[in-house]
Amino acid sequence: MFTNTVIVTGGSRGIGYEIVKLLLKNSYSVVYTYLHSNKHHNELVDIAQKNNVGCECYKLDVSNSEEVRTFKEWFVQKKYELVGLVNNAGIISNNLIISMSDEDWHNVINVNLTGTFYMCREFAVLMLKERKGFIVNISSTHGINGTIGGANYAASKGGIIAFSKSLGLELAKFGIRVNVLAPGYIDTDMIADFGDKQCDSLKKKISLNRFGTPEEVAQMVLFLANGNHFCQNTVITMDGGMV
Ligand SMILES: NC(=O)c1ccc[n+]([C@@H]2O[C@H](COP(=O)([O-])OP(=O)(O)OC[C@H]3O[C@@H](n4cnc5c(N)ncnc54)[C@H](OP(=O)(O)O)[C@@H]3O)[C@@H](O)[C@H]2O)c1
Repeated sequence: MFTNTVIVTGGSRGIGYEIVKLLLKNSYSVVYTYLHSNKHHNELVDIAQKNNVGCECYKLDVSNSEEVRTFKEWFVQKKYELVGLVNNAGIISNNLIISMSDEDWHNVINVNLTGTFYMCREFAVLMLKERKGFIVNISSTHGINGTIGGANYAASKGGIIAFSKSLGLELAKFGIRVNVLAPGYIDTDMIADFGDKQCDSLKKKISLNRFGTPEEVAQMVLFLANGNHFCQNTVITMDGGMV
């Protein structure tokens, strides 16, 4: 049985993987989800063992309400102690609005926004029973500022902010912390298709003149997890000073 357990969606790579790794190194057990790939699992289990915590993975499509409910039931049967939920799983499917298909729109909204809702709905119930827990939902600066060619993504990430603020209002009195991280450009597979020219021009708009790292985002999640702060319904932007 795991104690002090955090659930991380999309922990198989990118930002989610670094969040899982850092939590394991800081006395948290982790159950992370993946959808297609899971090549780091043995490495994560090794890290867990070295730190005397637990690590398990679960294959989950967060946009499928039934699957999320079944995952919750699986988690309850395991009798793991839940202390936190990080909704990190996300996708992009870029196109200009006038060329965007119904599918591009719905897929991104379903995974990013509806998936976050499904996860929060199921696992907040467990946190409410214990009168404790934290939820970190990963948004994006695009959800605040908009972006050309990613209106579906921006809408999903803006929706996460509005959703999380409502969730935080509903859960605060039960001792459950809800906060949002809104990263700018972070060096992962998600932006791997950008060409050199696009990267250079984007970096010129970032005061720190570089993309962020997944490790830096993970550090902020750890800060929110540890609870020694006065953040509730806060949207923390991490964009290197983008102008
Ligand atoms: N990278 C950036 O510049 C950036 C900036 C701001 C915000 N973000 C946000 O940060 C989060 C992580 O991004 P990332 O850059 O680490 O992305 P990534 O490298 O593309 O990883 C995405 C993760 O989400 C999982 N996933 C995708 N669809 C899923 C679904 N339907 N159900 C469950 N899991 C699913 C993937 O699982 P599989 O590996 O199994 O496919 C993977 O673990 C996302 O919410 C993203 O929007 C990223």
